[in-house]
Amino acid sequence: MKKLISLLLVAVLCLAVSLAYAEKVGVSMPTKDLQRWNQDGANMQAMLEEAGYEVDLQYASNDVQTQLSQVENMINSGADVLVIAAIEGSSLGSALTLAQENDIPVIAYDRLLMQSGAVSYYATFDNYMVGTVQGTYIKEAMDLDNAAGPFNMEITAGDPGDNNAGYFYQGAIDVLKPYIDAGKLVIKSGQVEFSEVATPTWATETAQNRAENILSSYYADGSNVDVWLCSNDSTALGVENALAANYNGAYPIITGQDCDIANTKNMIAGKQSMSVFKDTRTLAAQVVKMVGQILKGETVDVNDTETYDNGVIVVPSYLCEPVFADANNYKELLIDSGYYTEDQLK
Ligand code: BGC
Repeated sequence: MKKLISLLLVAVLCLAVSLAYAEKVGVSMPTKDLQRWNQDGANMQAMLEEAGYEVDLQYASNDVQTQLSQVENMINSGADVLVIAAIEGSSLGSALTLAQENDIPVIAYDRLLMQSGAVSYYATFDNYMVGTVQGTYIKEAMDLDNAAGPFNMEITAGDPGDNNAGYFYQGAIDVLKPYIDAGKLVIKSGQVEFSEVATPTWATETAQNRAENILSSYYADGSNVDVWLCSNDSTALGVENALAANYNGAYPIITGQDCDIANTKNMIAGKQSMSVFKDTRTLAAQVVKMVGQILKGETVDVNDTETYDNGVIVVPSYLCEPVFADANNYKELLIDSGYYTEDQLK
């Protein structure tokens, strides 16, 4: 018994010592409202802890001020590295400066931190490629090179405060523009520019309201909307909700991104054509690797040193590759890989 107690004491002591010396990683996530960030946060926490780090994970309820003070608190409570997925790319300047003054490296997670020289690295999926995958899907599904058309298309893009949103939009538009210019794709609402089609905070309800307005203003005459380019799943869901309640025509091709559960269910049910799968486990693993390299003073793994100019510096980046997903390959991508269980998609 005595032996057991002393063994236990030693174990507790070892744990206390390792915690006291464990390097600390502050992980700041935008919101719990959108599915993906819950997965990102959970993956990061599990993988960082497994690698022996102490983790301070915070969600900011999509409130910029909350995120600012959470990051400042992480710095003041001794974080050694910060990993930040910003709500609004340009809003964390003062906290980033504080991090720099305290020699704390900052990794921008998925979304680039803008207008600051204090961003050490950026890890994301290739955002422009996400858009080209969506645009190419539309081009092929509508056989735009051969079909006579014209086809009606509407566009729903992302949050203007998120640097990614412009890349997604541009990637898709660069593929589709020749067909828009040639009149094969017609945007009846006339809303084409990013500023006209953007969805603040990527909110499903905002996308739904705008889609409802478009449907009642431009499609109430019985004309079909053939394609709805949506930059991600939360906005696609808004469009799908609007169509369910306000539209009787032939169902359009709809794009998305993230393979959220609700959208994957809609893909299976034929209400969303595709999504872009960005495995949050891949990104988390990459970031954990970069954290380790930073803390050990090793060369940090990057594969792009040109694209991501944040207005002050070009941030060395690691771009993971996004993957096309639809009703035909979701089982292999999402279930066989253990991302979701079959039950979650029922
Ligand atoms: C992410 C997307 C996500 C969107 C809304 C973007 O920054 O890259 O994966 O759908 O934010 O959360």
